[in-house]
Amino acid sequence: MILPSHLSVRGGHLHIGEHDTVALAERFGTPLYVTDEDRVRENFRRLSEALTAHYPKVRILYAAKANGNLAIFRALASLGAGADVFSAGELTLALAAGMQPDTLLFNGSSKAPADLALAVEKGVRVSVDSLDELRQLDRAAGAAGKTVEIAFRVNPAIDVPTHPKIATGLATSKFGIPASEILDAYRHALAAEHINPIGIHCHIGSQILAVEPFAREVEVLIGVARDLIDIGVDPSFIDIGGGLGIPYRRETDRAPAPEEYAGAVMPVFLKGIKELGIEPELWVEPGRWLVADSTVLLSRVNSVKTAHKTFANVDAGFNLLVRPTMYDSYHEVVAANRADAPAVREYSIAGPICETGDILAKDRMLPELHAGDIIAVLDAGAYGFAMSSQYNSRPRCAEVLLSGGKAALMRRAETIEDLTALMATPPWQA
Ligand code: LLP
Repeated sequence: MILPSHLSVRGGHLHIGEHDTVALAERFGTPLYVTDEDRVRENFRRLSEALTAHYPKVRILYAAKANGNLAIFRALASLGAGADVFSAGELTLALAAGMQPDTLLFNGSSKAPADLALAVEKGVRVSVDSLDELRQLDRAAGAAGKTVEIAFRVNPAIDVPTHPKIATGLATSKFGIPASEILDAYRHALAAEHINPIGIHCHIGSQILAVEPFAREVEVLIGVARDLIDIGVDPSFIDIGGGLGIPYRRETDRAPAPEEYAGAVMPVFLKGIKELGIEPELWVEPGRWLVADSTVLLSRVNSVKTAHKTFANVDAGFNLLVRPTMYDSYHEVVAANRADAPAVREYSIAGPICETGDILAKDRMLPELHAGDIIAVLDAGAYGFAMSSQYNSRPRCAEVLLSGGKAALMRRAETIEDLTALMATPPWQA
């Protein structure tokens, strides 16, 4: 088994950073998300250095949807990250973590009037997704006596090699304005009284394991910049979104390193802006690449059953990690308390949810598993807890953050009381 450098096997136990995952499971209980803050920091620095080696004016906007814990925002804010925020909640958390309004971009294809008003109030730039939204934002800014700086979200009609549910730049996806209509949109923005169009935004999809689509995307955006200059807009940022994938199957996935990503994207960007005689900032919006591998989901085996195949029934299911069910995603599984034992049997790791699709991992060769054993699901830091639910009335689990030798809760587990806390009794039932 190939492990990333912050994971190791010592004394038969899987360790994350300096910590024994089995001891963490005992101390904090299971299921449990455990995140290594040092790894998040290392990932940020590596990506940042890879990009700035080509061009100094790079800004990293963390795609907050990947992991919305305030502690993750704080860690990234302390390194100078801004954020791609997709909701009033993400915007508020980013500001609460100390990120400055001018390091945020409010994205989304369906913003409510209250979202637009919040962006205006906080002085956060907006990625506008339609002319309808532009008109509403102009009115909101006018009502507040302010001007809002915007980008338009460009739909570049680029097909990317990833799961169809997370390819966002397809011509038919719900995001953005077709590249062929984008110039007209900027003309409308120039004519709007309270709007200042200063940027270009795009995002082609997620978990992309090739660099060539990103280079094509940048070419499209340079083309947009060329047209903008013709109508008198000198773009001050070009935001190419996120999407860089990680090798969930470490044995076989060929995942581009950040240096390779930068090596494909930056020359196209630099050649383009040089020809145009402009020096915009380059913005990127990585989510998964910064946080996915920093986190393991620890789960305890409740029972083992052989019925046609062998199931290890564990205490975490798609209520806590929906990716395998939703996207057929692969996550590596390690028998955390027997990590150096030989793999002797094929197991399917099944969650406690009342659905056939509640399988975290299918047909994996693992050491002999018994009730009480701990399994670790790797690379669970992006779109893991963030997409969790209370389905089957299961309280969500705790999240622990590690830093060096320290371990502390960054979110307590919900209780059964928490499940009912927000429910109300209609008067006729009282
Ligand atoms: N920027 C925008 C506008 C986005 O919509 C996204 C992700 C990102 C950046 C970050 O993409 P990343 O670097 O993380 O690939 N739940 C799915 C992924 C959905 C991605 C949605 N948008 C999953 O679990 O794979």
